[in-house]
Amino acid sequence: MQQILVTGGAGFIGSNFVHHLVRHTDASVTVLDKMTYAASREALDGLPSDRVSLVVGDIADPAVVDPLVAEHDAVVHYAAESHNDNSLADPSPFIRTNLIGTFTLLEAARRHDVRFHHVSTDEVYGDLELDDPAKFTPSTPYNPSSPYSASKAGSDHLVRAWVRSFGVRATISNCSNNYGPWQHVEKFIPRQITNLLAGGRVKLYGAGANVRDWIHTEDHSSAVLAILERGAIGETYLIGADGEKSNLEVVRMLLGLLGHAEDDFDQVTDRAGHDLRYAIDASKLRDELGWRPQYGDFAAGLSATVDWYRANEAWWRPKKGATEAAYAAKGQ
Ligand code: NAD
Ligand code: TYD
Repeated sequence: MQQILVTGGAGFIGSNFVHHLVRHTDASVTVLDKMTYAASREALDGLPSDRVSLVVGDIADPAVVDPLVAEHDAVVHYAAESHNDNSLADPSPFIRTNLIGTFTLLEAARRHDVRFHHVSTDEVYGDLELDDPAKFTPSTPYNPSSPYSASKAGSDHLVRAWVRSFGVRATISNCSNNYGPWQHVEKFIPRQITNLLAGGRVKLYGAGANVRDWIHTEDHSSAVLAILERGAIGETYLIGADGEKSNLEVVRMLLGLLGHAEDDFDQVTDRAGHDLRYAIDASKLRDELGWRPQYGDFAAGLSATVDWYRANEAWWRPKKGATEAAYAAKGQ
């Protein structure tokens, strides 16, 4: 039985991966998570205690990281500061967690020769023009726009250097925008759903022409497991499910699902440096590893996500006040 250390396993995507591992493998899982504002113990409820344990600690602390990594066969690294808008307000935790944290984990993986998978984002590539048919591929040059994406780009470069210089057995994945249950209300889709459920209004940055390539978090998890099991060491895989939508299209779908008129939204101050469009060419993952998304119907996935937030108000409601107050202070 494999022992897998999942960093950030109490966050939105990491917790989904922990459930996925328990359902689809016989691995034992240790979650290492600092339990920041973005973490949820509830997202780990119902997991078997003889297979999953939680260590509360910081990935940038070698005294925590080194002995833990030594006890595991593989590290799957999700822990990060993950929100662009927060990185514009204060980049410092992004540098510490995303860069120093990844460095600290890589040093432990090197010392103990532990397999490493680094979970990253397509935002490292910067953005595409709205009318450009191109998509991101593994050979697209890095060109990050925000402190968040720059810190993730830097962490990717660290992983590549540790592979080449020290022979660390690592892979990297760069995934497009995720949606699904347990996503923090600061992010676009849950923010709009919970605004509407709470009697507020949808807040669209600018005209809403920006395009994101949406993938259900379950599909992200199945792709990461495929790469962990069958990926070639040193390789980078792009994860996406051909889910391009403009923000305005998503807003109109959400307004429809929640019984509002399609123009019932507020246009608010745009994000500084706002990336125009992301789009993923996942053919390497499909062709080389045989991965296929199972949740490709965005309308159905969005509807199920609305239902989930409707049923889980006790989880999101306490986070809503502070999140909206911070946005309001910035005119968003
Ligand atoms: P999240 O913010 O929901 O969760 C991050 C988790 O990391 C939280 O549980 C938090 O407590 C933990 N964490 C933060 N700093 C830590 C530290 N110093 N030590 C230990 N734990 C710490 O983020 P998410 O949306 O689940 O994203 C997870 C990963 O996936 C990130 O690496 C992100 O860059 C990447 N990613 C996210 C998306 C997306 O659409 N959200 C898309 C592609 C890639
Ligand atoms: P977000 O969920 O923050 O993800 P990312 O910045 O990683 O793409 O935002 C997704 C898109 O939605 C992005 O173009 C910014 C936009 N957005 C809004 O229009 N309104 C909002 O309230 C938020 C949070 C985001």
